[in-house]
Amino acid sequence: MIGAGGMAHSWIHNFWMPFRERATIAAVVDVNADVLQEAGDFLELPASHRFTQMSQAFDSVEADFCCIVTPPAFHAEAVELACARGMDILSEKPIAHTWEACGAIYKMVEASGVKMMVTQNYRYSPRIVTLKKAIAQLGLVNYVVSRYASDWRVRKEGWYIHHAPHPILVDCAIHHFDQIRNLCSADCQTISGYSYNPARVRGAQDAFQGGASFDGDSCALFTLRMNNGSFAQYEGSNIASGKPNSWHEEYYRVECEGGAAVLDSDNKVRIEERDGFASTVRELPQEVLPWSGHEAIISQFLDWLDGGAVPATVLADNIRSNALMFAAVQASLEGSVVDVNGMVERVLGDGFMTPM
Ligand SMILES: NC(=O)c1ccc[n+]([C@@H]2O[C@H](COP(=O)([O-])OP(=O)(O)OC[C@H]3O[C@@H](n4cnc5c(N)ncnc54)[C@H](O)[C@@H]3O)[C@@H](O)[C@H]2O)c1
Repeated sequence: MIGAGGMAHSWIHNFWMPFRERATIAAVVDVNADVLQEAGDFLELPASHRFTQMSQAFDSVEADFCCIVTPPAFHAEAVELACARGMDILSEKPIAHTWEACGAIYKMVEASGVKMMVTQNYRYSPRIVTLKKAIAQLGLVNYVVSRYASDWRVRKEGWYIHHAPHPILVDCAIHHFDQIRNLCSADCQTISGYSYNPARVRGAQDAFQGGASFDGDSCALFTLRMNNGSFAQYEGSNIASGKPNSWHEEYYRVECEGGAAVLDSDNKVRIEERDGFASTVRELPQEVLPWSGHEAIISQFLDWLDGGAVPATVLADNIRSNALMFAAVQASLEGSVVDVNGMVERVLGDGFMTPM
């Protein structure tokens, strides 16, 4: 287990817990000694299985796979060490902090032949699985409108997102772009739009109320053209002053041939249809899932290692969500329309890995 604090604390204390019959945490790594001690005590690990440097853990611990839950800038180091040991990998999103690092990770994993899955837990919430069921009833997807809105206009102590570069894209939109691919059942062909800080575009951190809360971009407006004829519109804000659509409450409206499937912060999926002049709205019962969110990811990963089905969010697929995210960064910086497919092919060449 690489990382023990922050999100990794939830992995150790919550997500892995129901799977104790199938997986035992053999060792834990964290650069923060206090966090390491807490996790080691919770897991009842001997001192010899607690590490402040991941290289030492990879040198000495017997394990079947590793779970990476460190900040994205440290993912590549863990992947390189895991590949050298032939160890399979379950990693938190995004794949890495830069597109170049994503490409390097892809190539290391492909060359070593290890399995790698990326955590896109939002695909597997009951609300989204229900929305997918609604879309399946409505024919082709014309376009998706997606809204994420959190009110973080006041800086929170210790939250790196307030200081991160492109926080609305790299920390937030990676989930929503992946979700748009999931809802359209398609990859993104081109993307254009802007991520920005409404204070900084006006010339000063105090030029827009709440703008000073983020050093980087707090808002995003993008248009996506998918490679199956569908389109999408993405609205993201971390300084929302109106109706919130924060985590687990994002708004999606999927306009299809036979009607629209709508999901809002009340978590109800509604199908809107028109027959001549009459409009009807019907609500779908929420799907009941054996595993949801992070636990669904773990379940799929362990099944895959045991010879089961290849999960949807394996590296070879998820690289396309990361390409989309870094294409959005480029589109905004250049004010251009970025060819996402071309970007994937340029970095990875034509040796796309086929998941096994
Ligand atoms: N899927 C989700 O819903 C979700 C939510 C939040 C975060 N995340 C992802 O989880 C990952 C971790 O994010 P976080 O918010 O917990 O970050 P964080 O800054 O809280 O760090 C997590 C832990 O990693 C440790 N760490 C940092 N560098 C390390 C290194 N080189 N070696 C070992 N340990 C190291 C830190 O000390 C900390 O305990 C990121 O990839 C992030 O995007 C995913």
